[in-house]
Amino acid sequence: MVLAPLNVNSDFSALELNLRKIESIPLSNSPTRIHRLLRIQSRIPFWVGASATVYTLGFYAFSVYLSHTKPLDPSTDPQSDTSEKDVSGCYNEIANKFDSEVGGVETTTLLWLLRRRLVSQVDGHVLEVSAGTGRNHKYYNVKACKSITFVDQSAPMLEIAIQKWKDLWPQPPPDTAIAFKRQATLDIKEKPKNGYDYIIQSMGVCSTPVAAETIAHLGTLLNQKTGRILLLEHGRGRYNWINNFLDRSAARHAERFGCYHNKDIREIIEESGLVIERIDRPYWWNMGTVWVVEARPKGWNKFKQWTMN
Ligand SMILES: C[S@@+](CC[C@H](N)C(=O)[O-])C[C@H]1O[C@@H](n2cnc3c(N)ncnc32)[C@H](O)[C@@H]1O
Repeated sequence: MVLAPLNVNSDFSALELNLRKIESIPLSNSPTRIHRLLRIQSRIPFWVGASATVYTLGFYAFSVYLSHTKPLDPSTDPQSDTSEKDVSGCYNEIANKFDSEVGGVETTTLLWLLRRRLVSQVDGHVLEVSAGTGRNHKYYNVKACKSITFVDQSAPMLEIAIQKWKDLWPQPPPDTAIAFKRQATLDIKEKPKNGYDYIIQSMGVCSTPVAAETIAHLGTLLNQKTGRILLLEHGRGRYNWINNFLDRSAARHAERFGCYHNKDIREIIEESGLVIERIDRPYWWNMGTVWVVEARPKGWNKFKQWTMN
């Protein structure tokens, strides 16, 4: 995909990262850390979950209602065509209202907590793709990171992300190289010498028709011995009734919001060829529609690291 250059570097030149100079550092975290993310849900009182369920259902119903009230040209009515389209261009149109539209539901469903637990554990050289408006920014332990590179193909989304970063860090963090790049994920070729230690993606699988190919490509950018990809995604749920609901509304929802909300996330990761280290669908009130995944390239396993030869 060829994209017109975004005037990011001139606005943000002090933070531009020269990836060629990057050396990779070993992972220092224990793989069990992600488990804490999942354990926390058992301590959350019933009424919080119940309110969140009502809110989530209300949100879905409202989204579907909005989708159905939009007048559609019958010749292009997506309802009559169930194949997935590339609707990611719609983020250019909705960038300004994106945060206000998702903010409320993320607060009440505790999605922000999942973002925090996932993102705060990364260190070394980090790549965040489909970074959007930078909703994960505030959760980075920036001092633990040698570099953080944010990539998104939508200029309006990325502009908001850049402004948020500047607000968080009026002075660029001294020991962490930060870069923002307007790019389609499949076009990313540069990587640190030994690859990225972590790649983060939140809510990205839903908005690309080539999700498995994209995840596979991300696998090639990882450190092949220790790198991990961490995903926070939404997709199919645990129950037929919610999946029927998602299927029925998917095409119109995608046309309006740029995302297909009925994908089987496990199937997509398996198709990518990466090894799934952990996969979970936390918080019962999300009915299994929220997925947390940790995956790695095929070429290594934890035993191999200790092989002496
Ligand atoms: C649902 S938003 C999620 C944004 C952010 N990660 C979050 O959690 O709020 C999806 C984002 O993915 C971006 N995107 C979709 N397809 C992409 C692609 N092929 N390459 C890069 N970015 C893409 C869109 O521009 C949009 O900003």
